[in-house]
Amino acid sequence: MSAHIPVLVKETIEALAVQPGGRYIDCTLGGGGHAAAILEQSSPGGQLLGIDADPEAIKIAKAKLQAYSGSTLLINENFVNLQAICIKYDFHPVHSILFDLGLSSLQLNNNSRGFSFQHDAPLDMRLSPSQEITAADIINISSEAELAHIIKTYGEEAYSHQIARHIVQERSIETTLQLVQTIERAVGGRRGRIHPATRTFQALRIAVNHELEHLEVALKQAINLLGFEGRLVVISYNSLEDRIVKQLMQRESKDCICPPGIPTCICGHTACLRLINKRVITPSPTEVQLNPRSRSAKLRAAERIIAQDESYKMAEKLSFLAEGKANGWRRPALLRKLRMAFSLS
Ligand SMILES: C[S@@+](CC[C@H](N)C(=O)[O-])C[C@H]1O[C@@H](n2cnc3c(N)ncnc32)[C@H](O)[C@@H]1O
Repeated sequence: MSAHIPVLVKETIEALAVQPGGRYIDCTLGGGGHAAAILEQSSPGGQLLGIDADPEAIKIAKAKLQAYSGSTLLINENFVNLQAICIKYDFHPVHSILFDLGLSSLQLNNNSRGFSFQHDAPLDMRLSPSQEITAADIINISSEAELAHIIKTYGEEAYSHQIARHIVQERSIETTLQLVQTIERAVGGRRGRIHPATRTFQALRIAVNHELEHLEVALKQAINLLGFEGRLVVISYNSLEDRIVKQLMQRESKDCICPPGIPTCICGHTACLRLINKRVITPSPTEVQLNPRSRSAKLRAAERIIAQDESYKMAEKLSFLAEGKANGWRRPALLRKLRMAFSLS
């Protein structure tokens, strides 16, 4: 299996402003390429929390980062739980946080995962085997209208209705090859620059893994985990992801987000970020030539300009409640702990 080649490595390290002794989070560990570069640049004394939803990725990254085992904490979790992970492992505030979204080549090239329309495999597409719903479940259970909606919204596919109709007529569909053939029949002889199954596969993957919802939640948590002047860096690979990143960074870098035309500000919003790069950073032609999978990469970065806020501290305190329940604390003990937590600040 060919290794994953990390994209925009130099630009990422620069945008993260990696310094010796810093504390970093890689929310999408993958093959550990960016993580290795962060650890190298932050040595001596750097620390890295690496997260990946895919247990296979954790295994591969652990082997790659063995030389840094004393400075790394690798967690097999979904980044939607970023804040809870950081609180659990007391890993906050941090200097910078990286999201390198999407899939690694290791996942795309794995013949059993069903992510690629280029290999025949069961229609799975789950990042983690602990998830319940597979792509085959969505394909075989959803109504025609639901399928058309998923393919249109998450794949931006112009032929979503034709594809959904063919899927419903031809199911049950259990493998990637069956799905590719169904899509080819649905779109007839029409051929664009990309394979006719590209957009439907993207849509299914996003739906199976709730990618956009999780990204939105995790980015907000990430902003709150950064210390003053901490950096948030996101590399996205499709316009849906990039729109979420761009809109959140733009919104959080403005002092007022009132709708246009309101004479005086009523929103009370204050900027907590400063955009590092006004224009999105993309790979050079040389990088694209060396690593064609980098061609759609877009890097955006922002810096936190205020200290951590009270809502973050509150979340930390409220975690006592969850912990208390999990440990079966009795009410008086729980109340004592809560009182202690609140009187600390
Ligand atoms: C493009 S790869 C990252 C490659 C990595 N930067 C490197 O240099 O090798 C994206 C990784 O993010 C992981 N991932 C995607 N969504 C995730 C999520 N919601 N939570 C945790 N990991 C996720 C995938 O499993 C995959 O391993």
